[in-house]
Amino acid sequence: MSYLKNAWYLAAWDYEVRDKPLGRVIAERPIVIFRQSNGELCAIGDRCPHRFAPLHMGKVVDDVIECPYHGLRFGADGQCVHNPHGNGKIARAARVPEYSVRERHRGVWVWLGDKDQADTSLIPDYSIMDDTQGTGVVQDYMRAEANYQLLTDNILDLTHADYVHAGSLGNGSMTKTLPKVWEEGEAVFAHWWIVGEKAIPALARQLPDPEAPADQWLEVKWNAPGNMSLRVGATPAGRPREEGIDSTSFHIMTPETATTTHYFFANARQFRVDDPAIDQVLKEIIANQFLGEDKPILEAQQKMMGTTDLFSLKPVSLPQDVAAVRVRRKLEAMCAEENQ
Ligand code: FES
Ligand SMILES: [Fe+2]
Repeated sequence: MSYLKNAWYLAAWDYEVRDKPLGRVIAERPIVIFRQSNGELCAIGDRCPHRFAPLHMGKVVDDVIECPYHGLRFGADGQCVHNPHGNGKIARAARVPEYSVRERHRGVWVWLGDKDQADTSLIPDYSIMDDTQGTGVVQDYMRAEANYQLLTDNILDLTHADYVHAGSLGNGSMTKTLPKVWEEGEAVFAHWWIVGEKAIPALARQLPDPEAPADQWLEVKWNAPGNMSLRVGATPAGRPREEGIDSTSFHIMTPETATTTHYFFANARQFRVDDPAIDQVLKEIIANQFLGEDKPILEAQQKMMGTTDLFSLKPVSLPQDVAAVRVRRKLEAMCAEENQ
């Protein structure tokens, strides 16, 4: 399958790349990410050009990475810089790809395309996650055996909450509400505003009267290729937003292969920010929901579809598909433009 190359893919959370190299396949490219002694990140191809051992199983020596098999060493630009064998000559072909990498908003972002076009300002603004923001942040990583666009569709069609998460996230109100969908620059927005209805269970229990009518907002912002923020909140019906509850989560879907996805989840909250007990509860809620509820459906859906593209299967349309279809078409157009 083809992937957008000139885009920032979230490759890891910052805590995954501390003192050991991390190997991760992004859009079918094996990549190793490691840190130099000054903390700078490097991202290069993970497949040693000698006998194709994974470099991430090796170690960092003098700020370059040493292959665990026969000791060739590769620098931040992917070039072999050390050959411990024979006369030490280094073949020109002894190199692996080099990728642009940045650390932003507690994430490690990798650019698969042309290095000259790796514009840091194109990393989505998830600064609410930054240390300086005084928010309580939870981060998690999960993997699914399903294409990343199926996981993206899942966030862009929140009506699934009424069925897949009935009783926890869903109470039937999403199905009755159509999102407002629009584009601004490279981003696609899908906002659901549910006015004067009993709040969904996860929000209702945080409101003063869980049974009373509430106004709710669920606001997704998508950036290519699968980077989404979701702001969710509720306030007693007719009251300003500031009087209600509000939090922002991040659902970032990075393709591993055509049928597997790295799912990076995060949540930034403004209440009880230094409370590890809340961190734990939030982590458990999302893990239980995703692993127990979304993931089984998504993986079963992938099996039903095989490797055939969604549109080739001529799916039946429902009104709420508008956001997911808009995003898929936009991504297609961006890929087509790149391949011109
Ligand atoms: S496989 Fe890497 S040096 Fe031989
Ligand atoms: Fe879900």
